Amino acid sequence: MTESIVVTGGAGFIGSNFAMHWLTHESAPLINLDSLTYAGHLASLTAIANHPKYQFLHGNINDRELVRRILREHRPAAIVHFAAESHVDRSITGPEEFIRTNIHGTFTLLGEAKAYFDSLSAEEKKRFRFLHVSTDEVYGSLGPNDPPFTESTAYAPNSPYAASKAASDHLVRAWFHTYKVPTLTTNCSNNYGPFQLPEKLIPLMVRNALLGEKLPVYGDGRNVRDWLYVEDHCDAIRCVLGNGTPGETYNIGARSERCNLDVVETICAVIDELCPDSPYRPHANLINFVTDRPGHDWRYAIDCSRIERELGWKPQVSFEDGMRRTVAWYLEHQDWVASVTGSDYRSWIAAQYASRGDAV
Ligand code: NAD
Ligand code: TYD
Repeated sequence: MTESIVVTGGAGFIGSNFAMHWLTHESAPLINLDSLTYAGHLASLTAIANHPKYQFLHGNINDRELVRRILREHRPAAIVHFAAESHVDRSITGPEEFIRTNIHGTFTLLGEAKAYFDSLSAEEKKRFRFLHVSTDEVYGSLGPNDPPFTESTAYAPNSPYAASKAASDHLVRAWFHTYKVPTLTTNCSNNYGPFQLPEKLIPLMVRNALLGEKLPVYGDGRNVRDWLYVEDHCDAIRCVLGNGTPGETYNIGARSERCNLDVVETICAVIDELCPDSPYRPHANLINFVTDRPGHDWRYAIDCSRIERELGWKPQVSFEDGMRRTVAWYLEHQDWVASVTGSDYRSWIAAQYASRGDAV
């Protein structure tokens, strides 16, 4: 076993941030296995493409032979599993890929992780970890006065995305209990920050506002999410990987609940300030209420006291600071935005929002 780690899905939003974060803070090499779906972009990794401790491998987590070969050749001390289909709206229009990657892909990876783990020496077994990156959406939806989700909240997934992640979490749990693979699971709230594809709320609103396009808010905009700056998530994952107890799960959040309309209005205010010459000021005039998402979860909120208490992690970036950093990043990286918003992206947006009664 070497000290390297294998990351899956490292060309996506959180995975690419994690790869850069890892190489900044750790000395162990990182191998990134990613199939480059519509959500994976090598343009997000140019800063580390030639880093001596970074290697990109193009491939699918469902390719059992490939996964086996990678583990055999690189003999990593850990697998950090980000690869997934991650967009709720896409899971509503096309759930099949979510079953294939999130459930079957995790199953394949776990099977090969087990075989690899079984081949390790007793000393190596003590060090090995399989960290599964999951979401708070597995817990379902909260009412306004409900307490936030804890690690013992019962699973109640409502979207095909959430159901597929819940299933994968259960597989990870079973591989720990049955096969003694030393797994760790993290359930995190909504992330935002650099390199997020503009199909999710925050980067979509930033992109549209800069272009003077409508800002499609689902329903009445009162749905609540707990927003965590992506760098804080990466730091939490590194912390759980280093210090978490095998078999346990850790909730990660920012205690930063905001309703969607507040989030969009904040984005508009930051853009008004950073773009004083924009012809679209005030950008809040672009807000457009559209047909709600089917089965739209009303509120997510995370109680992250366990990771704070047991592992000493705390979010460092406030919502206000994180939003300013994020909007500034998108303003400075319009070339990246252009590179990830080609014809596939535009077809998705056109179909998605036309069906909501919003001709973007
Ligand atoms: P993303 O959609 O931006 O990236 C997913 C990456 O996985 C892409 O690079 C894609 O090419 C790759 N991928 C997809 N299918 C693959 C396959 N079969 N084989 C290999 N690679 C494949 O996702 P993200 O937002 O970065 O989320 C990463 C993980 O974090 C996911 O597991 C997601 O469920 C979880 N998560 C996300 C959030 C969030 O707010 N984005 C919050 C909590 C948890
Ligand atoms: P999203 O970023 O898709 O994350 P998730 O559904 O995983 O929480 O959406 C965040 C919230 O924003 C969610 O309540 C749906 C809402 N939303 C809109 O109002 N308009 C949009 O165009 C999108 C993409 C999301």
